[in-house]
Amino acid sequence: MREPAEIEIRTPDDFHVHLRQGPALSGYAREAARRFGRVLVMPNTLPPIATPGELASYRAEIRSAAPELTALMTFKIQPGMDRATVRSLRDAGALAGKYYPLGVTTNSEDGISDTDSVMDAVAAIEAEGLVLCIHGEEPGAEILDRERAFLPRLAHLARSFPRLRIVLEHVSSAAGVEAVLALPERVAGTVTVHHLLYTMDDLIGGRLDPHLFCKPVVKTRADRSALQRAVLDGNRKLFFGSDSAPHPRSAKESAQGEAGVYAMPVSLPLLAGFFAERGALDRIEDFVSRFGAEFYGLPPNGGSLRLRRARWTVPEEIDGVVPLAAGREMAWRALDR
Ligand code: DOR
Ligand code: ZN
Repeated sequence: MREPAEIEIRTPDDFHVHLRQGPALSGYAREAARRFGRVLVMPNTLPPIATPGELASYRAEIRSAAPELTALMTFKIQPGMDRATVRSLRDAGALAGKYYPLGVTTNSEDGISDTDSVMDAVAAIEAEGLVLCIHGEEPGAEILDRERAFLPRLAHLARSFPRLRIVLEHVSSAAGVEAVLALPERVAGTVTVHHLLYTMDDLIGGRLDPHLFCKPVVKTRADRSALQRAVLDGNRKLFFGSDSAPHPRSAKESAQGEAGVYAMPVSLPLLAGFFAERGALDRIEDFVSRFGAEFYGLPPNGGSLRLRRARWTVPEEIDGVVPLAAGREMAWRALDR
């Protein structure tokens, strides 16, 4: 059956974004607000979002930049964080706590090396009905094996806290997909557009593309296929989180290039193309507008967004950042909501 040239979907959510801080924040937040009703905002700022005061002022900063965007807030779990702090963060409006292993990604020098050091915090996250979001990579493991090597910790956390809801963020490997699908319903995963569509060949197979460098790194064709199959299957345990992570061009085109893909401007057009090419455009709405909200226990967004088959070229730079697929022609466009 020929796919339609336009579809209207319920306003989508992005359950994993980095909006940064300071003067750059407003451009990134406004880009998000053009397409998404709600975004789950990651807390790896400097300093991190780890107290009620920091959470409230970060949310206020986002709100003033983009009042029509609902910022769903997270905090960064600190080693030794106590239950009272988690409760106060919940009272301040946090939906989730983010687990960053030590040193595995941007601003994780204060991360967790010993899961035992956060058991109190995780117990409180469970008790308060919050979600545990995990950057699932094992420090010190070989780069392509870091996600797989973390999976025993994921299983251990799921077993130790029988009511805890857990999201394995940016699932990037076949082993990660398999683990999420095998664990109970209360364990889900976010999927980015770059892990769904790209592999190491795109990153380093020809000339190095620093703008596709991220953590976890994009992996093999077999890993990508496992992600694609599970998403096309319409599995409700996998939902959209872009991990849109802008860095200024100079920080990416550098001898010590930062990890992070600025996916926000192109994530919906790329996803529309992915589903449409496989005759499955009717599945995109569940992936971007329903499964994530259901997992988080949020009502569906009001309003809608149109995705239209229309050619356009991705700008080479937006707000000083080179977006994913810069300069490439897109077959689909997301109209502003
Ligand atoms: O590539 C990444 N960039 N992965 C992360 O986990 C963090 C992000 C960032 O903040 O730049
Ligand atoms: Zn991230």
